[in-house]
Amino acid sequence: MMDINSTQDHTTQQIKNIVLIGFMGSGKTVVGRCLARMMDFEFVDTDEEIEDVTGLPIARLLKKYGETRFRSEEELVLKKLLKRSGLIIAIGGNLNMENRNLELLKEGSFFVLLKAEPEVLYQRLRRKNTRPLLGGNPTIDRVKQLLSERENRYELLADYFLNTSDVTVDEAAEMIIKEYNKNILLEDEEGVSEFRSNRENKI
Ligand code: S3P
Repeated sequence: MMDINSTQDHTTQQIKNIVLIGFMGSGKTVVGRCLARMMDFEFVDTDEEIEDVTGLPIARLLKKYGETRFRSEEELVLKKLLKRSGLIIAIGGNLNMENRNLELLKEGSFFVLLKAEPEVLYQRLRRKNTRPLLGGNPTIDRVKQLLSERENRYELLADYFLNTSDVTVDEAAEMIIKEYNKNILLEDEEGVSEFRSNRENKI
């Protein structure tokens, strides 16, 4: 786990964070890790931070203590991240719009919404059993239903939308970097914008 309390690194340079939001299975973690590698930023997955702090996998935490506890842990993680810049942050798919820290994070960050067709999300998710809110046995209808409940929330926050249904991880990361560079003034833009993809990785 990275040290999210640290104030060194990018803080003084004021490099904007990139925050990845979107439904489960949209590629936030895998694209986030790739972006971090390409841009030499640090990657933080809020779910992983929560797991680390509580010592419980998210599925267990939700089952044992419920969503309220999950929410408060998520708020604490986001609060700590507000002090940092130059990060790639992936936030769990069930965004809490009441979370004031999310609003504050938005001020210093470029928010990217990763999207995918419901069928694609379903195919990606059915292989795993780590998303309790989808139920033990996710169905395409459940994915569609949750997606329609959440789409508005995601879109309200997004500065840029990217459909990951049919792109590789590297392609997705490159598109985000391009957009980030267009929108954000970087102190060292050269190193970032010169990046070229070298792998064909499916999300
Ligand atoms: C959830 C998404 C998960 C995790 C939890 C709940 C959701 O994160 O926070 O299982 O309801 O969308 P990912 O979006 O990273 O899978």
